[in-house]
Amino acid sequence: MTDFGDVATPTANESRAPSESAATTLTPSSPASSAAGPCTIVIFGGSGDLTRRKLIPALFELASQKAAAPRFAVLGFARTPTSDDAFRETATEAVRKNSEGSGAGSMDEEKLRAFAQSFAYVAGEYDQPAAYENLAKRLVEIDREHQLGGHRLYYLATPPGVYPQVIEQIHKTGLARPEGNSWVRIIIEKPFGHDLESARKLNQTVLEVFDESQVYRIDHYLGKDTVQNLLVMRFGNGIFEPLWNRNYVDHVEITAAESLGVEQRAAFYENAGALRDMIQSHVLQLTSLVALEPPAAFDATSLRNEKIKVLKSIRPYTPETALRDVVRGQYGPGTLPGKDSGKPVPGYRQEKGVNPESSTETYVAARLLIDNWRWADVPFYLRTGKRLPRQVSEIAIHFRRAPHMVFRGQGMAGNSLVLNIQPDEGISICFQAKLPGQEMRLRAVPMNFSYHAAFGGEERSAYATLIADCMRGDATLFDRADGVEAAWALVDPILAAWRGVMPKFPNYAGGEWGPREADELLERDGRHWRKP
Ligand code: BG6
Repeated sequence: MTDFGDVATPTANESRAPSESAATTLTPSSPASSAAGPCTIVIFGGSGDLTRRKLIPALFELASQKAAAPRFAVLGFARTPTSDDAFRETATEAVRKNSEGSGAGSMDEEKLRAFAQSFAYVAGEYDQPAAYENLAKRLVEIDREHQLGGHRLYYLATPPGVYPQVIEQIHKTGLARPEGNSWVRIIIEKPFGHDLESARKLNQTVLEVFDESQVYRIDHYLGKDTVQNLLVMRFGNGIFEPLWNRNYVDHVEITAAESLGVEQRAAFYENAGALRDMIQSHVLQLTSLVALEPPAAFDATSLRNEKIKVLKSIRPYTPETALRDVVRGQYGPGTLPGKDSGKPVPGYRQEKGVNPESSTETYVAARLLIDNWRWADVPFYLRTGKRLPRQVSEIAIHFRRAPHMVFRGQGMAGNSLVLNIQPDEGISICFQAKLPGQEMRLRAVPMNFSYHAAFGGEERSAYATLIADCMRGDATLFDRADGVEAAWALVDPILAAWRGVMPKFPNYAGGEWGPREADELLERDGRHWRKP
């Protein structure tokens, strides 16, 4: 994982380039400081969209990093027949097309050529033993050629339905067991299961072949710097934690909004929906990081134990509360906001590959309570959706109002602390200030910390961070078997409650902030959503 540094923000007098800022590495309590790699990375689903859009650019970012770039070779495995050379060409194009802003910096053509040279490809059916024999042979050759010490990282980036086949074949070919001093690890892409039962079954399949210490269940939100910064803010400072509880916090809002529609992913999304796709994973991860108790140490066991304690303390939904406290929505035709303002966009049911009578939700808002000493009676409001007015992920902590207002005639606004996860990464605190002039008039003003202004533009993609963590054996930012199951256990009753009720879809127009019922969810409590 990224080393958390004790970084001084340059003042005007000591302005330094971000890379020269004084950084002291905290004493690691995990293998986080060890170098990543070397290893062979086998990408199952090597010809797929995720590989091209996220994984290859992330790997190039790692290969291009200035300090201690890990050494690795990449072996793609997928059904589509293609040659090593054609796969190298795909890798080159993928980097060119998708690396912008991912931290890879200006394209170094020589580096890109050398990077692509480390790619090879094996084609085969996922359940075909001969294909895995071939894979095993190539692994030996690649390992010998690049001197990678027999270390292997498998990345499951296939459609989730074939995970069990791949795992079984890896096992049968003897590829799950490390040899000598080498290691074998597996990253499993989300979605991890479709509901609690399938997640349990998948965990069972995985753990029959691999030891839990070899398994890295990925949720890329945890690789985002600003998500990790939430932990630094809470536990690296003395001033926030004393307020971080029911005595001072009125309510918490977590938003993961996207302006994009379903794009090319209808086949997947029709069977997933926003609850499974975003709430079960990313949004519950954020919830547990906001709510967790200080871990004993920053290591995989301590952090994951605390996260799971939060999930298990969330009040389970009953059939009644699921229908009352969770709102689902689906976008209808609308218009795009922002720079493409006014451009008409189709509704979800009109998107390519979507059933014209689809009842898949593209929006979810939920109210939940955490039954523990820290958070009793503090509502957490979560929302996520596609085709909302803008792309923004943020966590807003709303504090209780001052107990008594001495400035007569002035409203009693509470303070809020907003963590902007993306875009415009940073933190802002909103408080009351006096408006200039003779009268005593108050206005809420923000005090902003911008990640970019403080640390410069070079950012690291979440995938690069997490793949490097896996290469060095640090599972802190990955999910454990019981963690995924605890998240599904929360979501399952909602799915069950929805099954019996036909939703009235569409119920929000593309470009709007979700259905009216989502506003009512907060209005019932005398509150309203923040306008991000
Ligand atoms: C993925 C979901 O996990 O996260 C997508 O499957 C979603 O539907 C994406 O668009 C959002 O990730 P990010 O990093 O763009 O906020």
